[in-house]
Amino acid sequence: MCGIVGYIGKNEAKPILLDGLKRMEYRGYDSAGIAVLEGTNISTCKKEGKLSNLLSALESQEITGRVGIGHTRWATHGQPNDINAHPHSDCRDEIFIIHNGIIENFHELREKLKKHHELTTETDTEVLAHLIEDEMTEGVLLEQAVQQALSHVVGAYGIAVVSSKDPEKIVAARLGSPLVLGIIGEGEFIIASDPTAIIPYTREVVYLDEGEIVTVTPKGYDIRTLENITVTKDVTKIDWDVAQAEKQGYDHFLLKEIMEQPEVIHNGIRGRLIPEEGVAHLGGFLQKEEEWRKIDRITIVACGTASFAAKIGATMIEEYAGVPTRVEIGSEFRYKKPVLDDRTGVIVVSQSGETADTIASLREAKRHGSLTFGIVNVVGSTIAREVDSGAYIHAGPEISVASTKAFVGMVNIFALVTIALGRQREMSLVTGQRIAKELTDIPKLMDQVLALDKQIAKIAKKYYALDHAFYMGRKYNEPIAYEGALKIKEISYLHAEGYAAGEFKHGAIALIDDRFFSVFIAPQDSVYEKNLSNIQEVRARGGKVIAVTTEGNTDMENFADDVIYIPKTLEMLTPLLSVIPLQLFAYHVAKLRDCDIDQPRNLAKSVTVE
Ligand code: AGP
Repeated sequence: MCGIVGYIGKNEAKPILLDGLKRMEYRGYDSAGIAVLEGTNISTCKKEGKLSNLLSALESQEITGRVGIGHTRWATHGQPNDINAHPHSDCRDEIFIIHNGIIENFHELREKLKKHHELTTETDTEVLAHLIEDEMTEGVLLEQAVQQALSHVVGAYGIAVVSSKDPEKIVAARLGSPLVLGIIGEGEFIIASDPTAIIPYTREVVYLDEGEIVTVTPKGYDIRTLENITVTKDVTKIDWDVAQAEKQGYDHFLLKEIMEQPEVIHNGIRGRLIPEEGVAHLGGFLQKEEEWRKIDRITIVACGTASFAAKIGATMIEEYAGVPTRVEIGSEFRYKKPVLDDRTGVIVVSQSGETADTIASLREAKRHGSLTFGIVNVVGSTIAREVDSGAYIHAGPEISVASTKAFVGMVNIFALVTIALGRQREMSLVTGQRIAKELTDIPKLMDQVLALDKQIAKIAKKYYALDHAFYMGRKYNEPIAYEGALKIKEISYLHAEGYAAGEFKHGAIALIDDRFFSVFIAPQDSVYEKNLSNIQEVRARGGKVIAVTTEGNTDMENFADDVIYIPKTLEMLTPLLSVIPLQLFAYHVAKLRDCDIDQPRNLAKSVTVE
């Protein structure tokens, strides 16, 4: 996610802001900028790309002042470029704002503001600057204007605002995006979205909670709710070192990203689901709604983990939208003679949006005149720019090479696409409502599975020294078998194979002996009894079995050596829960095998070569 930093005190703000932005670079971003006040004069500079571009631009610009804000942007609305970089300002450049998060109702607000304001960017953030401008009439304090402006906003935000009309002040507020106030000393404060920017200056911090707004001046700070009720907060001491702070206290980015998965589902469905109507509102789908209505078959193209998400999506679409759907891996697709035409929809799935094999497949599909749709995490990436339309996963930057939160984000978007396609076709209101309702419950259910981390770490201790594993599942969980096997391979180097459980007896079962363990993803779903037979086949040959099944199904303890229970949900959504124990298991096995978990050998985060 984006990085926010603000400073007010007795020193020059610019170097402190730039240092803070540098310390937050690890989070991933695609543009950066600062705004600094000297008296009632505001200077600003913002550039696309890495911080080095901003630093070069600042060499030719004299910026001084002891109050300022800085931002590294992870684009969610609008291409990464100089114009869309933060800070954003009002019509008269008297108010400057930086923002983390997503304003859901920004189209509606933008339409209203356009009547009296000149909006110059594609961003949702700029809308906030003009809302504050409207509120900041004579005698209104900046914090009062910000409070009023935020009362019109629906969405998630962490913001920091300065104004030449109320100088010597920073106002910051949070709803859904973290903000921390660092107390450096008498009349000297730093505000940031991430403690890594604060630790070098102070460890005395105040964490803002949801719906709180802080006003900081050289005289001190004042925290209120958005309803203007004063809040007294404890000052806490950060005891992390910087390396830990980057991972928010986790030992590895991988574990941090696994734990962020409930938030990824929230971010993915935010503003896109209307449960009472049983419909999904995906902007990219609605742009081509009539074209998608004419589509009579779908090909999904992806690589690696994204291809397993694609397999789940294909099963969802066939079962609930009735459109024949197949999955092709990017490295194979274009070398076969793909049968594509203008009635074929081609969905490409990619976290990075830069995977060479997937890009080449997309271009091949476009050459055949097929309608294309992208499910991508990185805004403004090549795939995001070349598809006819698409939906961003909104998983935030995925730092660890092994994909986890982006995977569940992809499956989440496929569930929305399934509703969108299905409700164009035979899917009933009731079915749409049921899927939408179950999807909104998933983050809570994910929290329950994440709470099993200690139990899973204990199970990992029993198996980490073995060298071979089979992962097996059926239907919606066959791809989870492949994903679970890939996870443990790529971060712990333990050899594992994913298998369709029913296929195992056609040869591979010959391998079972005490060097192997088998992981079965066997929730109580439409194929549970079949999975149970396969488990018994493995056990009868002395194979060790770890089973992932639905909570309450304690009968499984008669068939498996270790059982991990997941909450019940709609069958098509079980992968969002069943994948988590496998991610945590792979993580703990890799830790016990002392592997380089975030940067495994031989791997790159994005495979930009064929
Ligand atoms: C997944 O853990 C791997 N890092 C890899 O399989 C990855 O999913 C694949 O390279 C596709 O990457 P993309 O989603 O960025 O296109």
